[in-house]
Amino acid sequence: MVKQEVSKVNTTKEKEFGKGLFVIGLNLLLLYQQLRFMSATILELKDVAIFQKESLILNDVSLEVKQGEFVYLIGKTGSGKSSFMKTLYGDLPLRQGEGSIVDFDLKKLQEKDIPFLRRKLGIVFQDFKLLPDRSIMKNLQFVLKATGWTDQTKMDHQIEDVLEKVGMKTKGFKFPHELSGGEQQRIAIARALLNDPELILADEPTGNLDPQTSVEVMKVLQAINKSGRTILMATHDYALILKYPSKTLKCDGNKVFEVVQRAV
Ligand SMILES: Nc1ncnc2c1ncn2[C@@H]1O[C@H](COP(=O)(O)OP(=O)(O)O)[C@@H](O)[C@H]1O
Ligand SMILES: [Mg+2]
Repeated sequence: MVKQEVSKVNTTKEKEFGKGLFVIGLNLLLLYQQLRFMSATILELKDVAIFQKESLILNDVSLEVKQGEFVYLIGKTGSGKSSFMKTLYGDLPLRQGEGSIVDFDLKKLQEKDIPFLRRKLGIVFQDFKLLPDRSIMKNLQFVLKATGWTDQTKMDHQIEDVLEKVGMKTKGFKFPHELSGGEQQRIAIARALLNDPELILADEPTGNLDPQTSVEVMKVLQAINKSGRTILMATHDYALILKYPSKTLKCDGNKVFEVVQRAV
């Protein structure tokens, strides 16, 4: 009888102990996953050289961008920012060096892979590139259909969601020419978000905008970055960088290197 009681107590204790261990193990696993997620590499280049036809534009480029970072790419006009971006979205082939972006190997990238790469990237240009002959809603729907979406309800939800993210929920029925430059760029950002990209590449997104409108667009990009998305933004708008300091890479003298911002 006593023996039985003791063994019962022991089993309960063992069970408690086991449960404790299980909870600790689970927490460690979660922590590990979280750390892994935080430090995941989204973009990595090693000894890359970038060419436009036969001219060498950038050389010895090695860099890493991790998930969740906001990185500026600065440099004078003609220093190679757009060529750099084009290499990342498969518009310029990677001829020399190694590169991986959102799990694609840039060296092995083939023509048929490019649409799939671009689905994992959100690309924003200086000149918004909206289709002028249709409403904002139809512009966004066009992209969804072109990237394989078929369910109308899902498409409507996704469009509403991305328009909300850029503060343009009520403007879906408008045509591009009925919007200001800043609004059109916000729509272009919404379009870039349609397929939940892992990385957003923005090539001078504020290049055509006045300073105040640039700040509004920047606030949208900042909010998107805060929600966990990685952003690489080419710009030569130094005022904006001072206002929203972040990791900065510079193209200069055929090289890309990180620069440290001075405190203002
Ligand atoms: N399609 C092209 N063909 C030939 N040369 C080009 C092409 N596009 C850009 N370049 C050249 O590559 C260099 C870098 O240009 P670019 O990458 O556009 O710089 P940025 O975006 O910093 O202004 C410039 O000398 C430019 O003339
Ligand atoms: Mg450029």
